[in-house]
Order: sequence, then C-alpha cells, then structure tokens
Amino acid sequence: MDISLLIEKVRDALQRARRPLALTGAGISAESGVPTFRGSDGLWRNHRPEELATPEAFRKDPRLVWEFYQWRRTLLSEVKPNRAHYALVRIEEKKPFSIITQNVDGLHSLAGSTDVVELHGNIWRVRCTDCGMEREDRTVPFEEIPPRCGCGGLLRPGVVWFGEMLPADALDRAYELIKATDLMLVIGTSGVVQPAASFATMAKRRGAFVVEINPELTPISSYMDVVINGKAGEILPQIV
Ligand code: OAD
Repeated sequence: MDISLLIEKVRDALQRARRPLALTGAGISAESGVPTFRGSDGLWRNHRPEELATPEAFRKDPRLVWEFYQWRRTLLSEVKPNRAHYALVRIEEKKPFSIITQNVDGLHSLAGSTDVVELHGNIWRVRCTDCGMEREDRTVPFEEIPPRCGCGGLLRPGVVWFGEMLPADALDRAYELIKATDLMLVIGTSGVVQPAASFATMAKRRGAFVVEINPELTPISSYMDVVINGKAGEILPQIV
C-alpha cells in the first residue's frame, strides 16, 4: 500500500483510539543525532554497547564503562528532542497517552511528554554500588572517572544493564498500560531486546491495533497491523 494511505489509516485509528500508547527505542532519537545501538554507527571505539552495558564489564573495568557513559552523556547534553518526540507530545494534548521507552536519554520528557515509563532507567541518574544512594546527576564531564559517592563507593550509571532486572515499578506500569491500550505505536526499536520486544505482540494478542514505524523491517514487523517503513521524524508529524 502507498505510504500516504498507510499514514491516513493510522491517523484515523489514532483519532478513534481511547488509550493510545507508544513503545519507543533508540531509533526515535536517531534524528536528534544520538547513535542507535545496533546500527553501523552504533560502535564505540570498536566495542559493541552490549559488551559495555553489563555488570561484568563494570566489575572488570569501571573506568572503560564510565568512559563510554561519559561519551554518551556529553553527546546527549548537546542534543535536542526532534520532530518525532514533539509529535508524541501533541497526542497527549488530545487524549490520555503514555510512552514506554527503552531509551535512557530523557528526550521524551525534555520535549514535554509527561507520562513516560523508563524501562531501562535514565543516563542522568547515578547510583552508589556500596550504599545504594541514587540521585540525579547532570555533571558533564566528571573530573574523575569513575566518579565516587560521598561514602567512598563507586558510582554507576542509573541505567539497566544486560543481565539485570528491570525496575519493578516501571515493569508493572508497562503491563498495566499494555492491558489498557487499544492502539500501540512501536517506534524505532529493533525488537530484539526483551521484555520490550514482547510488548507489541502482547498488545496485539489483547486486541490492540499495532503500528510499527521504522525504516527497516524487524523480527516483530510480521505481528503488526500496519508497518510504515520510514523515519520517525518524518512519519509521526504526518500522523499526528
Ligand atoms: P537498536 O539500536 O537495537 O535499534 C534501533 C532501531 O531504530 C533499528 O530498528 C533502526 O532501524 C531504527 N531506526 C533508525 N533510525 C530511525 C529513525 N529515524 N526513525 C525510526 N526508527 C529508526 O535500539 P533499541 O531497539 O532501542 O538496552 O535497543 C534496545 C536496547 O538494546 C536498548 O535500550 C539498550 C540496547 O542495548 C540496554 O542498554 C539495556
């Protein structure tokens, strides 16, 4: 089907939807200049992010892991939300709307979205590996890497790493939203990291209309009611 017809179909569905929901991944921030994880630009000094975003990597070399996060924090301190983030804010102005995001960049909130479930934490938070203290910290760059807590313990980024549990409150809220939604927009995620990847199929099984917006096909594309192959910053403003 022609892309403009697909956009029209989704626009109609969104207008009718009572409780729309978005599931977002790194792709929605790509047009802000934030590299995705699995694209060709996703490598950092020849490391795959999946090798650095683990508790094992942090135990082995906290400095290297912090250098990676320091690089991401510096980059993120200089970028702005894009047309895709702002389009989602406009949905919320019309009806109850929530976003479940795998992103740690905080760009949805910065754009103005008020109901954002951060499944993988937030890069602007730090947590002490000794005393457990957690707080927001927007220091860029840290003078000393790895940074330390007042108690002397090592600080780590307040994000979820591979092999770690997702925050229970975020997960509970996500399942609640999936149960309630009648239309889910799946935007800019490769659909390979669980549990987020299963959210779209879960929503579909529960009867929601599911739409994928991504320039590439993904392992979850075949479950979708509509797949729009395009960039989020170009497609979403046309839908909203
Ligand atoms: P990925 O890097 O795996 O996938 C990004 C997706 O965005 C790909 O499917 C791209 O095709 C798509 N994309 C690229 N540009 C786009 C654009 N302009 N508009 C729309 N889509 C675009 O990122 P995630 O799926 O978010 O986890 O990755 C999931 C998790 O794996 C991340 O949260 C992170 C990562 O490693 C942890 O760190 C725990």
